[in-house]
Amino acid sequence: MNLTFTIAEFGGDLHQQSIVLRDQVLRKPLGLRFTDIELAQEIDQQHLVATVDGIVVAVTLLVNQSDQVFKLRQFAVNENLQGQGIGKKLLHFVENTAIDQGKKSIELHAREVAAKFYAQYEYVVVGEPFTEVGLPHFKMRKKL
Ligand SMILES: CC(C)(COP(=O)(O)OP(=O)(O)OC[C@H]1O[C@@H](n2cnc3c(N)ncnc32)[C@H](O)[C@@H]1OP(=O)(O)O)[C@@H](O)C(=O)NCCC(=O)NCCS
Repeated sequence: MNLTFTIAEFGGDLHQQSIVLRDQVLRKPLGLRFTDIELAQEIDQQHLVATVDGIVVAVTLLVNQSDQVFKLRQFAVNENLQGQGIGKKLLHFVENTAIDQGKKSIELHAREVAAKFYAQYEYVVVGEPFTEVGLPHFKMRKKL
């Protein structure tokens, strides 16, 4: 599989595809939809995507928390392609992007079902579990 990693231009084709993917993987299974306001507010966030032949197969967003910290959110891999190493490679691209931009750490809110995925790559749980979009989550952090 010829994977390419890039930061999608806000409003461009890759960005539009990434919204469809996030909707499919992260929202529809919960019976939720993105609102136009929610999506418009993401203009300040970086939309990192993995593509195969121009098709977005994975996405995640980076929010500038501070000079030193990114918050990672909305990590999703196409349902038919999960478990094939794409998430691992996208996370690697995320971390290199963060280092290139001078960040010292990454924080995220991991769904309980995904916490072990992040733990494999040295993300550690901070504090107590909590509920978000109706699901148990853990705050996790990695020092880069
Ligand atoms: C969680 C997710 C991003 C992982 O991406 P992926 O491409 O499926 O994962 P990879 O194939 O790169 O897996 C890398 C490693 O993590 C493990 N892993 C993947 N998903 C895991 C999970 N949910 N729990 C535990 N381990 C997991 C794999 O077994 C693999 O381990 P190995 O190298 O020892 O074989 C993806 O499965 C996904 O989109 N899930 C649904 C949406 C979701 O839960 N997103 C996270 C919200 S916080």
